[in-house]
Amino acid sequence: MTMMIEAYKLSRSFKAKKAVVDSSFNVRRGEIFGLLGPNGAGKTTTIRMLTGQIDPDSGSAIVAGCDVVKDRAHLKERIGVVFEEQNLYERLSARNNLEFSRWLYGLPKSRVDEVLELVHLRERARERVSTFSNGMKQRMVIARALLHRPPMLFLDEPSRGLDPISARTIRETIKLLSEEGMTILLTTHLMDEADQLCQQVAFIVDGRVVANDAPRNLKLAHGRHELVVTLKEDVNSSHTMHDVTLKIDDVADQKRLTEWMAQGDVLAIHSREATLEEVFIKIAGISPLQNG
Ligand SMILES: Nc1ncnc2c1ncn2[C@@H]1O[C@H](COP(=O)(O)OP(=O)(O)OP(=O)(O)O)[C@@H](O)[C@H]1O
Ligand SMILES: [Mg+2]
Repeated sequence: MTMMIEAYKLSRSFKAKKAVVDSSFNVRRGEIFGLLGPNGAGKTTTIRMLTGQIDPDSGSAIVAGCDVVKDRAHLKERIGVVFEEQNLYERLSARNNLEFSRWLYGLPKSRVDEVLELVHLRERARERVSTFSNGMKQRMVIARALLHRPPMLFLDEPSRGLDPISARTIRETIKLLSEEGMTILLTTHLMDEADQLCQQVAFIVDGRVVANDAPRNLKLAHGRHELVVTLKEDVNSSHTMHDVTLKIDDVADQKRLTEWMAQGDVLAIHSREATLEEVFIKIAGISPLQNG
């Protein structure tokens, strides 16, 4: 099984509202896949269908080898799910929170320390969750979702509401899990985060997948193809400098660059790739943070 998710023409409406429309995409085993889109685009609805929480109106999906409608019991064993709302037992310690779930699953006691270790909370195991920061609580929720060793993890906005440092710690945790072979589907509003983490992303607008590719390919395809050349201001001194932007595929600009290089005027050359956010705005015609 090379594909961990095969979603084919998934659709779901809520009354007159078409939340997800003919959504098809694949997620390869071991990959971090990002679902990106503005508020109300249909990301959470997609995750809810892929995790067997709601039925699609039409279309189908196989997740970790299980049909999301017909094979729900097996599906639950093979996935971990972290949703926007966390519900931890605030008055219990980190260990006891997980201990309760471990007991429900019938897993060995040692598994609690293993998952605490995975999210770097082993040292804090005895402390009450009510004393934890939001970032630590988020790691606790991830730890709980990992207890039963699922090969596939769904994270709906894992860095939501976190300060930059905590968000970074969560990203490190996600990377670590991925390196250990876990397949991860996440949603995020942070395009930089998606760019850093995801091998593939799907942009969703009004319930439809409007682009699906590696971030790098998207940036190249929609980029500006420009170079920023830093030149010496004064031929006798490299202390003053100025930047000139050149178009990579413009013949006149290519000639200018060759001349400057031959004259020894060039101090530095940088390629100016589009950011994923710029690609998003171009493809979707809207900002990723715009309300939908
Ligand atoms: N249970 C529900 N009942 C009615 N409408 C719903 C329900 N769940 C989702 N919707 C609607 O479906 C659309 C998609 O919602 P969804 O939560 O999937 O968006 P999202 O991409 O996760 O947005 P956000 O980035 O804000 O989390 C929205 O218009 C939302 O109001
Ligand atoms: Mg959502």
